Amino acid sequence: METKLLKADEDGLKTAAELIRKGETVVFPTETVYGLGANALCPLAVEKIFKAKGRPSDNPLIVHIADREKLLEIVKEVPEKARQLMDKFWPGPLTIIMEKTDKIPDVVSAGLSTVGIRMPENKEARAFLKYAGIPVAAPSANISGKPSPTTFEDVCQDMDGKVSAIIEGEPSNVGVESTVIDMTLDVPVVLRPGGITVEQIEAEIGEVLVSCGLKESSVPKAPGMKYKHYAPKAKVYIVKGTVSDLKEKLTEKKGFFKKVGILCFDEFVGELSPFGEALSLGSMKRPEDAAKNLFTLLRKMDKLGVDVIFAPEIPENGLWLAVKNRLYKAAADNIIDIKTAKWIYFVCTGNTCRSPMAEGIFSCVRENVITSSAGLMANNGDFANDKAVISAKRLGADIKGHRSKRLTLDMVNSSDYVVVMTNEMKNALSDFKNVVLFSALSKGCEDVSDPFGASQEIYDECANQIKKLSEKAKI
Ligand code: TXA
Ligand code: MG
Repeated sequence: METKLLKADEDGLKTAAELIRKGETVVFPTETVYGLGANALCPLAVEKIFKAKGRPSDNPLIVHIADREKLLEIVKEVPEKARQLMDKFWPGPLTIIMEKTDKIPDVVSAGLSTVGIRMPENKEARAFLKYAGIPVAAPSANISGKPSPTTFEDVCQDMDGKVSAIIEGEPSNVGVESTVIDMTLDVPVVLRPGGITVEQIEAEIGEVLVSCGLKESSVPKAPGMKYKHYAPKAKVYIVKGTVSDLKEKLTEKKGFFKKVGILCFDEFVGELSPFGEALSLGSMKRPEDAAKNLFTLLRKMDKLGVDVIFAPEIPENGLWLAVKNRLYKAAADNIIDIKTAKWIYFVCTGNTCRSPMAEGIFSCVRENVITSSAGLMANNGDFANDKAVISAKRLGADIKGHRSKRLTLDMVNSSDYVVVMTNEMKNALSDFKNVVLFSALSKGCEDVSDPFGASQEIYDECANQIKKLSEKAKI
């Protein structure tokens, strides 16, 4: 599909509005992140959003409006506290969930009886929505699973060729998505922290619950929060410990990774630079900076081709909560204590079946480990075997992004353990004291045999064996 790149001037915005009215998709800038919009009242138009993003259809979309005039056509009622929030925070980065009317099709709400409504503040977004004259359904304009786009460049990378038009705006000011609050319950629930803080909301309407996987609460999360999110290609680890501990470890473990990425703050970027690609979120005192920079930096790490990202712990107060939520999701909640974490290489022959499954499964079932994998006879750059990807996924490990590499001396020397699959491999590496047979970590002596060429059932068996050995391993 040819994508029109439109300037954010009157002409461009009117062209964009025209396209949206015709049932096409348009990417538009907002103060939070760029949105991928379509006519919210037209199911066929909305389908195009899911297709462009590769988004699962059980994840509802936010509906964007320019003014409150026709709000009652799309929601059944506006609860009093919701009205208070609108008065205070609209236009702005706050999405309010209310009971929907039949005008909002099921594809938008993913079958729920509710719909999230937001009135963005960004000037171009408002003009575009005003010209369009219809409610516009729009998720963040990233390919599903990737960090949300906050610049025209990032959005083009994901969406050029997949949508009818992209409006070229300024970089998003807030940088993380809107706060999502469910106002259909007796006590309102914040489902996603964002540009408006929990503290700001409570100052306005009193106590709310927070359900975003960080703060304690028993209510269900927003449907969108269960998917892999915001993830760059490299594995992300949240580092507990001091900057000097991190520096010490990265010196000791030099050679474990080819290219290390470090997310940090202005205060430390100078001293961390010699240890990898160090990128700063901004000052430690300014959560606004971290919010604004986070997604672009995660994407920049991809461009730099790092194979791991170490990131700092983030506080939970104010806007930090939104930053923490995004970053910890990108890290799939991998939090390590840098002083005590174990650095482990898993090794098999080709590094496309057993060892990538072990790398993924081990870090799913064990905490405080940094894992990688390699093969004794591996090519560099092969994908993991399709069946291995499926079997690992069944046990919760995503190894789709894996690329094979051959074991080097640097890798062995920088590992706490080099875990091999068979006795034969152990013998081949008998010169190295840190090489250990996988099953020997739990006092066993059996091999993990090569499933290559066998059926999916055999791969599943192999993955299950790896899972058991991972759970039992004494490290
Ligand atoms: O800042 C933003 O909100 C951006 C810009 C483009 O406006 N949009 C955005 O949309 O982040 P999206 O689709 O990436 O995230 C919407 C989130 C998802 O986690 C979704 O599950 C939740 O809001 N959500 C939407 N409607 C909901 C509903 N009726 N009930 C519960 N959660 C809902
Ligand atoms: Mg999103």
